[in-house]
Amino acid sequence: MSDIRFDGKVAIVTGAGGGLGRQHALELARRGAKVVVNDLGGSVDGSGGSSEAALKVVEEIKAFGGEAIAHGASVTDDAGVADLVKTTMETWGQIDILIANAGILRDRTLTKMELADFEAVMQVHVWGTFKPIKAVWDIMKAQNYGRIVVTTSSSGMYGNFGQSNYGAAKMAVLGLMNTLKLEGAKNNIKINAISPVAATRMTEGLMPPEVLAKLAPEAVTPGVVYLVSEDAPTGAILTAGAGAFALSRIYETEGVYLSDGDLSAEGIRDHWDQITGEDGQKAYFNGGEQGQKFFRKMAGG
Ligand code: NAI
Repeated sequence: MSDIRFDGKVAIVTGAGGGLGRQHALELARRGAKVVVNDLGGSVDGSGGSSEAALKVVEEIKAFGGEAIAHGASVTDDAGVADLVKTTMETWGQIDILIANAGILRDRTLTKMELADFEAVMQVHVWGTFKPIKAVWDIMKAQNYGRIVVTTSSSGMYGNFGQSNYGAAKMAVLGLMNTLKLEGAKNNIKINAISPVAATRMTEGLMPPEVLAKLAPEAVTPGVVYLVSEDAPTGAILTAGAGAFALSRIYETEGVYLSDGDLSAEGIRDHWDQITGEDGQKAYFNGGEQGQKFFRKMAGG
């Protein structure tokens, strides 16, 4: 099989001044893509900012003969995102790939969490994923080509103590992906999610050093590269860390149909084993498929 290449393709990677985004940007550039390295250059909690981080990555790319430009917009800023896309179009005339990777943390248990901590995390992860996607969407539609990756987390899919803001935001981007995979299908726009585990400044305090040593961001990037390639799937949630890759899915059990006499809270209690039983459970590709099951069960199927 041939190598995965991105010659002639243009990619925007948000939050690419460090950590995972930097690796994604470097690898796309190594494989021939022209890369816009976006980063606001703030701290882990989202405060401050400088364009230096993005510029450094651009220098690294240029050093091996790749093509890249830096852009310091915050992904939450309407005018900044508009300028990011405008600059990309003026420089290279197309946008084929968007990796929405920028992120911050404001970990606190709910009791201690200020509304501002919830708001800031929702802003960067949810709005900061939506706004760049919205800004490139019609360009990708017109090109009949687009590859988008959103960045989710086990924290959203499964939960993590002290991360109610981050978990809510990381699950929200999957909801966005689930609908956009349907809306983008006829224009060859594929959208997937990466759920990484990697040693970056974001995870410094969260895992022991001996564990972090095994979790290079480089081990996640191959998953992202595949998800933005020509042959990418759509609507996949790829979990990746330390070289391990797996697919995460939402399953629904076959469940029960409760007819008149049983249609009550007590009926649900009495059928709980059947409702939760794993026999026949399925992952649906869209909401309509799930609805059809209800109609089938209503008809006695
Ligand atoms: P990082 O802190 O090294 O990188 C995040 C980058 O995003 C930083 O360079 C930061 O300046 C940039 N950024 C933050 N707010 C921005 C904004 N408003 N506009 C533009 N850029 C902004 O962290 P890491 O670990 O590389 O995280 C990358 C993504 O992966 C994030 O979305 C994170 O939530 C996600 N993730 C990381 C995990 C890990 O184990 N490292 C686990 C699960 C998800």
